[in-house]
Amino acid sequence: MFTQVEAESAISQARAEAEKRLTRQPAQVISQFSRSFALYEEAKRHLPSGASSNVRVYAHDPFPILFKKGLGSRVWDVDDNEYVDLLSSYGSVVLGHSHPAILSAINEQIRNGTMLGTTTELEVEVAKKIESGVPSAELVSFANTGTEATMEAIRIARAFTGRDKILKFEGHYHGHHDYVLFSVESPSVVAGLEQAPSKLPYYPGIPDGISRTVVVAPWNDPVSLERALKRNANDLAAIICEPIMGSAGIIPPKDDYLKSVRELADKYDVLLIFDEVLTGFRIALGGAQEFYGVKPDIACYAKALGGGTPIAAVAGRRDVMGMIGPGKIGYGGTYNGNSMCLAAANVTLDELLKNDGAAFKQMHLIGAQIVEGLRDLMARYHQTGIVQGVGPMFQLYFTEAKKILNYRHTLQSDFEKFRNFRNLMLHRGVYLHPDGTERMMTTAAHDDTDVERVLAAAEDSFREIQKAE
Ligand SMILES: Cc1ncc(COP(=O)(O)O)c(C=O)c1O
Repeated sequence: MFTQVEAESAISQARAEAEKRLTRQPAQVISQFSRSFALYEEAKRHLPSGASSNVRVYAHDPFPILFKKGLGSRVWDVDDNEYVDLLSSYGSVVLGHSHPAILSAINEQIRNGTMLGTTTELEVEVAKKIESGVPSAELVSFANTGTEATMEAIRIARAFTGRDKILKFEGHYHGHHDYVLFSVESPSVVAGLEQAPSKLPYYPGIPDGISRTVVVAPWNDPVSLERALKRNANDLAAIICEPIMGSAGIIPPKDDYLKSVRELADKYDVLLIFDEVLTGFRIALGGAQEFYGVKPDIACYAKALGGGTPIAAVAGRRDVMGMIGPGKIGYGGTYNGNSMCLAAANVTLDELLKNDGAAFKQMHLIGAQIVEGLRDLMARYHQTGIVQGVGPMFQLYFTEAKKILNYRHTLQSDFEKFRNFRNLMLHRGVYLHPDGTERMMTTAAHDDTDVERVLAAAEDSFREIQKAE
């Protein structure tokens, strides 16, 4: 343990190092982002690593850009720089920032209480909307975050089947609870064979014993999946997956792969959980299960559901979800189904449904225009790489590969070059996460002007990269 004096000395050493790195940046960086730098330095004195979620500082070298405002498809940092936002708050602001219908719904609701602590009429109304939009949703239970939703789904599956193990896929992220924090990011030197990945905890603090409850398989490979299922069939409660893998860039399922996963789950008598925290209410109202026509037994939602407010849902088969209740499977949470976030979810669903799903068409169209535009520019400026994704979720990989099909393939990408590309985009008014294993996302608020700005910035950035090569 550090003493106070040692801690202060470590902090000032770290600051000195950051400043040294900073001064190696062009003068433009220092002046353009000076408030971000100063505020981050202060944040580090009060928040571990300067943030309440590691992803907000991870890979942000030499320091993260800190936002102060978001409106529609745009965000502004504390230095007043404006950006086209392709982070989209990690996917939560599906209608864009500060959508007027969401703001007024929240405003109206909070006059009658932010949370009441009983089942409410609004809760039933939102559950009904989810049931009518999501093919597999026969009963719905609310939570607050994606982490809680996947944790609850796993518990339900375990209690329903009476078995302990779950099978997850290498590189898939299901939130921040211990049961799923294995083989999220594994360096290839220790990750074993691609077809039979070693099971590795994401970071320290995850009890070793929990690893015995997790089986890991590679994504997009039905043969390896069946092998893992056969070996563990009698102990497995469920397969959990992101139906479109969004935690190593964007890796869609191969043709009919999700159908194979469904068939294998049935064959080996395990439940199938779709973690639709990223895909739900984004690629279609019914998420990936509607888009690919494959129904899971349980599905988890968060992010887009709340239009930028913390609400999540677990939805699924009546016989499975119906096991929740007093004296049956436990389910709880003080803030579950709070009226403030339900009000936001309610109008988010209405807005998404409006005009025959125009918001989804817009998100897909804008996504496709940016993807096509980036591909053309990469070819024009002789950049070796690919852009892949589904509708409003996509990522650019600097790689020799023609397609990325699983987590291991991403490891062949040049993430350093991606970070450089991202920093060039930042200076040109487009915000992407600097880590190439994140993704770019558009919202229903992104329009043609944003596409033009993104592609103009990308053209300039690729030109600069090509010049330096
Ligand atoms: C697919 C997926 N599942 C679960 C989560 C966890 O959600 P939350 O951050 O709301 O806990 C995330 C978050 O990024 C996610 O992308």
